[in-house]
Amino acid sequence: MYAGAWLLVTALCATLPLALGVGSRYRPVDSQYAMAAPHNAEFVSAKGTRLWRNGKPYYVSGANYWQAMNLGMAHGPSGDRQRVLRDLEGLALRGVNMVRILAASEGSQLGRQPDRLYPALVPLGPGEYDESVFVGLDWFLAQLPRFNMTATVSLSNYWTWSGGAAQYVSWATGTPIPYPVQWDHLNQVFAGGDYQRFLDYASRFYADSALYNTTQRWYKEHIRAVVTRENSVTGTRYCDDSSVLAWELMNEPQIIESVGADGHAQLFRWINDTASYIASLDPRHLITTGAESKNGRTWFSTMHKSPHITLASCHFWPLNWGYYNSTDPSNQSTEYSISKLHDFVQNINQWSLDLNMPSILFEYGLMRDSWGQSSGLNAYLPSAPVTHRDKFFAAVADSVREHSSCCGQSDSARQAFAGAAFWAYAGIARPPVAPTEQIAWTGDPPHEPPGWNSVYDSDNSTLSIIANLFSQRQVADI
Ligand SMILES: *[C@@H]1O[C@H](CO)[C@@H](O)[C@H](O)[C@H]1NC(C)=O
Ligand SMILES: *[C@@H]1O[C@H](CO)[C@@H](O)[C@H](O)[C@H]1NC(C)=O
Ligand SMILES: *[C@@H]1O[C@H](CO)[C@@H](O)[C@H](O)[C@H]1NC(C)=O
Ligand SMILES: *[C@@H]1O[C@H](CO)[C@@H](O)[C@H](O)[C@H]1NC(C)=O
Ligand SMILES: *[C@@H]1O[C@H](CO)[C@@H](O)[C@H](O)[C@H]1NC(C)=O
Ligand SMILES: *[C@@H]1O[C@H](CO)[C@@H](O)[C@H](O)[C@H]1NC(C)=O
Repeated sequence: MYAGAWLLVTALCATLPLALGVGSRYRPVDSQYAMAAPHNAEFVSAKGTRLWRNGKPYYVSGANYWQAMNLGMAHGPSGDRQRVLRDLEGLALRGVNMVRILAASEGSQLGRQPDRLYPALVPLGPGEYDESVFVGLDWFLAQLPRFNMTATVSLSNYWTWSGGAAQYVSWATGTPIPYPVQWDHLNQVFAGGDYQRFLDYASRFYADSALYNTTQRWYKEHIRAVVTRENSVTGTRYCDDSSVLAWELMNEPQIIESVGADGHAQLFRWINDTASYIASLDPRHLITTGAESKNGRTWFSTMHKSPHITLASCHFWPLNWGYYNSTDPSNQSTEYSISKLHDFVQNINQWSLDLNMPSILFEYGLMRDSWGQSSGLNAYLPSAPVTHRDKFFAAVADSVREHSSCCGQSDSARQAFAGAAFWAYAGIARPPVAPTEQIAWTGDPPHEPPGWNSVYDSDNSTLSIIANLFSQRQVADI
C-alpha cells in the first residue's frame, strides 16, 4: 500500500521546477527589520567540505530555536507569533542566518507525561496529527525568507522532552517510559530515575529487531508527512522550500553499547535506511544525523558514512560531559572545557575532511554563572551573570572559524567546519518567578530549569560574540 504512495510523492517532489522554491501566496506581516524575500535563494548544497548558496560559500551562524513550531501556532497555550517575529529580528540583527528547529513531538497514549512539549504535533498515536500545530510550523517556515534565514529541521528526538524515540517504543510495546533524571519544577531540584535504564529503553527504537519494523514504519510515515507537506501559508512543499538547510534524522541519537560490536551495524542500518528514504522523497536537501559525535572516530564514521548523509553533525556540552564545574567561581574548569573543545573541534574537522563532508557544530551551550547560589528560581534570570559562558562562546567562535575555510583562509588550508549554532535562544521570553509546571518556552526544554542555558535578547555581551562568528565582512573576504 505504501509503496505506491511513496512513488507518487517522490515523483512530485523530485520533479517540481526550481522556480517554485519561493512561495507566491505568502503575504508578509509588517515588521520593522524584515527584508523582502531574497530572489532566487538557492538550495544550500555541499561541495567537498564546503556549503554553497547562490554561488558563494555559505557559513552558518545558527541558533537553536526548537520552540518554533509551538510558538508559530495561531492560538492556544503556546502560540505567540509576535514573539517569534521579535526573536527572529533579534537574531537577524546579530547575523544569525540559521535556526535549528523541531518538526516532531509525540504525546502518549498513557495520558499526560511529565516535562513534555504540549500541545504535541502527534498527540496520541502514530499518524494522528494536530493540524493546528503543523500550521504553526508552516507559519514559522514562511517567515524565514524575510530574515534571510534557513532552518535545520529535526525529525525526531532521542530525549523524551518531545516524546521521541522512547515514545515510539512506548507506542509499540504499550509500556510506560522509564524516565531519567529531570527537573522538578515545583520543588526546584533535579530528581528521579535511572539514566542507563532510560538509554536502554529508548535505544530499542533502532536496536530491538522485534520492534524495528513497526517503529521504523511509523517514523518513515512521519518523515513522509513532514518532507512532502504542502505549506498552508506559502503553498510550497517543504521538500521544495529552499529555506530548509537540511533534514536531521534525530536530535542526538545515542550509540548502541548493549549489543557489543553489532551496535555499529544496527545504528548504521537505521541511519542508512532513514537517510536513503529521505533522499528518495527529496533529493535536493542536505541530510544530517543530529549526532553529538562524542564517542570517538569509529562511531563518528559509523554515523556519517552512509552515502545519503551529506552534512556531519556534532555537539559540545562542557557541563554534561564532566569538564565544567558549575560551583567553581574560578576560571579553571572553563579553561579546561575550552582545551577539550579545541581537541574536539580539531578531531571532528579531521574526521569530516576524511569523509569529504562539511560539518556543523549544531549545539554548544553553557549554563549561566550560578556558583554561590542554590539552583533555585533566581539563578537563571537574565540578571544572573554569564562570565563563563561568554568565555566559552568566544572560544567556540575562534575555534570554529579557525577550522572553517572562511575568513581569508586559502584553499590549501582546507577545513571542514561550515558553522555553529548556540543552545538556545529564549529571545524575549523570561522564566517564571514562582514555581509552576507551565511550560516557560525559554531556550530550555521542559525537563531542564527554565533559563538555565538560555540566551535572552538582553544578553548583549553574548550576542555580540555570536555576531562575530562569521561577520559579513569576514565572509566577503573570501
Ligand atoms: C542573504 O544571505 C546571503 C548568504 O547566504 C548573502 O549572500 C545575501 O547577501 C543575503 N541577502 C540579503 C538581502 O542580505
Ligand atoms: C521485518 O521485516 C523484514 C522484511 O520485510 C522481515 O524479513 C522480518 O521478518 C520482519 N521482522 C519481524 C520481527 O517482524
Ligand atoms: C544503504 O542504503 C541503500 C539504499 O537503501 C542501499 O542500496 C545500500 O546497500 C545501503 N548500504 C549499505 C552499506 O547497507
Ligand atoms: C567544584 O568546585 C568546587 C568549588 O571550588 C569544589 O569544592 C568541588 O570539589 C569541585 N568539584 C569537582 C568535582 O571538582
Ligand atoms: C576569569 O576570566 C575573566 C575574563 O576572562 C576575568 O575577568 C576574571 O577576573 C577571571 N576570574 C578569575 C577568578 O580569575
Ligand atoms: C543591547 O543591544 C540592543 C541592540 O543593539 C540595544 O538596543 C540595547 O540598548 C542594549 N542593551 C543593553 C543593556 O546594553
